[in-house]
Amino acid sequence: MKGLILCAGRGTRLHPFSYSQPKTLLPVANHPVLHYCIRKLREVGVYDIGIVIHPSQVQIPPLVGDGSQFGATITFIEQKEPLGIAHAVQLAQPFLHDEPFILLLGDNLLMDSLHGLTRAFSGTATDGVVMLSEVERPQDYGIAEVQEGRLVSVEEKPRQPKSNLAVIGAYLFTKPIFESIATLQPSARGEYEITDAIQSLINRGYHIAHAVASGKYSDVGTIDRWLEANRWMLTSELGRQHQMGKDTIVENCEIEGPVLIGDGCQIRNCRLGPFVSIQDGVHLENCAHIENSILLENSSLCDVAWKISDSVFGRSSHLTGNSTDSSGVFILSDKSSIRIPANKREEP
Ligand code: G1P
Repeated sequence: MKGLILCAGRGTRLHPFSYSQPKTLLPVANHPVLHYCIRKLREVGVYDIGIVIHPSQVQIPPLVGDGSQFGATITFIEQKEPLGIAHAVQLAQPFLHDEPFILLLGDNLLMDSLHGLTRAFSGTATDGVVMLSEVERPQDYGIAEVQEGRLVSVEEKPRQPKSNLAVIGAYLFTKPIFESIATLQPSARGEYEITDAIQSLINRGYHIAHAVASGKYSDVGTIDRWLEANRWMLTSELGRQHQMGKDTIVENCEIEGPVLIGDGCQIRNCRLGPFVSIQDGVHLENCAHIENSILLENSSLCDVAWKISDSVFGRSSHLTGNSTDSSGVFILSDKSSIRIPANKREEP
């Protein structure tokens, strides 16, 4: 069985970070989301993996290499136009041939293994399997209708959802999916929707099984969901502990885990946590309190007397604060810099 991971999406809801990095490389607990996808495929014995990228996403191939670091073989496939998931699958047909394959959306992170998909496939005669998960805002997803244990319909971002069971970014398909994709028309958003291709399979009498994920799931498509995924991944990996990388100096700090600190960081006189991930080369000095935040490579925060939460600091971004007693949320893109002057005292 082969694997296919889609990464070519523009990630507009993750601006400004997706301007300078493909969203599938944004780190959750200091690892790119894409790496988790590759590992999930390896867990179920899939090693021949295609990754669909846009030609401008030149940072992806060096970060994945030939796949040997994951025990996999990687083939890159280009999708030049943003014409949707089904279009990307069609472009990958020469790589996939007629074999069954697992399709993962490269910005979706799930705690469950993909064994649910492979088990449902090997059980009865099935032509495909979709992974489902309960979600809070069903109108933002492809939504499944299950009757008497059988998947009877899927609908892309319905105004009146028939359930809160979303089709999340993990699917298993066989050869008939290509015939379905060939019959599709673009949707209202101008994309060839994979949900329409699945519905067409169901309409033509193919059996599409489903597996319901029981663990956490996140589509890391917005900054809030990125922070949320970071929280649950940190909790799952560290519990309430903290972890530091090599050549990192931490002095006079109070740390409430989970907190993950990368290599070569310098951190002094700070209160950190919970739910903070800090990439390599970060410099923090005299920060009153940082919680529920992501600090990307080489960012720095100095003399911040207020509490910072729900924030993301881009690569090589810098914040110099002041001694005002307050709190704040910061979304700082790569290489941006903010210096807040000290408050002038009113003279009597
Ligand atoms: C896509 C799919 C949708 C699915 C979702 C999962 O939506 O079209 O069916 O539920 O991924 O993240 P998009 O992220 O393109 O809005």
